[in-house]
Amino acid sequence: MSDANRVLIFDTTLRDGEQSPGATMSHDEKLEIAALLDEMGVDIIEAGFPIASEGDFAAVSEIARAAQNATICGLARANLKDIDRCWEAVKHAKSPRIHTFIGTSPLHRQIPNLTMDEMADRIHETVTHARNLCDNVQWSPMDATRTEWDYLCRVIEIAIKAGATTINIPDTVGYTAPRESAALISRLIETVPGAADVVFATHCHNDLGMATANSLAAVEAGARQIECTINGLGERAGNTALEEVVMAMKTRHDIMPFTTGVDSRKIMHISRRVAAVSGFAVQPNKAIVGKNAFAHESGIHQDGMLKNPENFEIMRPEDVGLSATNLVMGKHSGRAALRSKLAELGYEMGDNQLKDVFVRFKELADRKKEVFDDDLVALMRDASADPETEHLKLKFLRVVCGTQAPQSADITLTVDGEDQQATAQGDGPVDAAFNAVKALYPHGARLQLYQVHAVTEGTDAQATVTVRMEEEGVLATGEAADTDTVVASCKAYVTALNRLRVRRDKLGGKDTREVSYKDAG
Ligand code: KIV
Ligand code: ZN
Repeated sequence: MSDANRVLIFDTTLRDGEQSPGATMSHDEKLEIAALLDEMGVDIIEAGFPIASEGDFAAVSEIARAAQNATICGLARANLKDIDRCWEAVKHAKSPRIHTFIGTSPLHRQIPNLTMDEMADRIHETVTHARNLCDNVQWSPMDATRTEWDYLCRVIEIAIKAGATTINIPDTVGYTAPRESAALISRLIETVPGAADVVFATHCHNDLGMATANSLAAVEAGARQIECTINGLGERAGNTALEEVVMAMKTRHDIMPFTTGVDSRKIMHISRRVAAVSGFAVQPNKAIVGKNAFAHESGIHQDGMLKNPENFEIMRPEDVGLSATNLVMGKHSGRAALRSKLAELGYEMGDNQLKDVFVRFKELADRKKEVFDDDLVALMRDASADPETEHLKLKFLRVVCGTQAPQSADITLTVDGEDQQATAQGDGPVDAAFNAVKALYPHGARLQLYQVHAVTEGTDAQATVTVRMEEEGVLATGEAADTDTVVASCKAYVTALNRLRVRRDKLGGKDTREVSYKDAG
């Protein structure tokens, strides 16, 4: 690294983020997010945990092959089989990295039931093995912040001697605080022999809401890699949020003179995509990427904003990829305006695709008085269905709903090119519509997640619906937007079924997680 103040951004949305209960992403979604991370300038992408399942292995391998700029990293527990499997997946990358870890705190040492000496030997053996396969090896003492100081120094020294090039210090349980985080990193850098030859990384969980502060404190103390996720996704309370550390260093460069290679203008788009594919909506008041982060409602604030945005905004919305104003498009807007607006939101497209999107935009603008940025993002998600893989298509839907049961749905679906009709009842209109789809396309898939969001305000707001289905370990998510919530639900359900079928055909087998990452021995 030529610039001593350059901080490497290591994104683990696809590994630690994906471990959030309920946040499992499909293969194609992982590839899409990896491509966005690569494009935005993230230095290292932790693409998954290759030994966890065939699906994880396939995703890490494909991401490794596709990456243009980023180093592609896979996770491996402290055993030779995990490390070999990880290498098989990441070796396709222009710049591969193996990340191996073991829990070193007194509590975590009990899991594989190793003595301190046995664990030290295991670290020597596994890091040596990883380094024989790959020049770029990261080692993590899991639960480092609750590991005895002397033992932590001892095992880090062993890992460095065995060839680790990055030493990551995880605050696995979100236990540390900024001053302690800084003190730990600076003391390790001063004390451990060989520390000057490796990069120290910080990996903070957010159980006490201090992850971002702890990561930045570690950087001030000498860490030069921050591990983080988009929207702070991650186990329990999540991880350090990428957008927060990047924007904090950019906005407060005066007191934190560090730089990253991340193009902050891509933040909003990737945040929205991760929220959509993970099914984890971003809370409105979330820093940087929340819906209200640049919204001003009180009269005093609005007045101040009109006089000078700096009165109430410490960064410009454009710096995170938001347009300065939220209300620009309507039914009189033309194709050129739509193209430029979509480009601003991160969607570049050819003439044919634009033609199709423009038709949908006009339909929406006829139904809705104002078309906001968020409406367009929802529209683009809805338009992303691939006609090649659309075995099922919703053609017509009418529901009867209200206070008196039964609620029912009449549906016409195009199934492999042929229109078919059905009527079904259910507990509410969405249930009735799903039952009608099932009558025409019987399947054994289980509904894992059903989520509805109003994209903007007002009773004419579009609803974005996310549906996740699971069948014999194969997962697929469908999203759709419409001003009619039941229509959006039905379209999302149909999209998920289409994707499930494609995925099943492609995988030709199961995609179940076989191992737990906590089983680190
Ligand atoms: O939180 C943690 O300790 C981890 C390790 C695998 C690095 O995610
Ligand atoms: Zn973690």
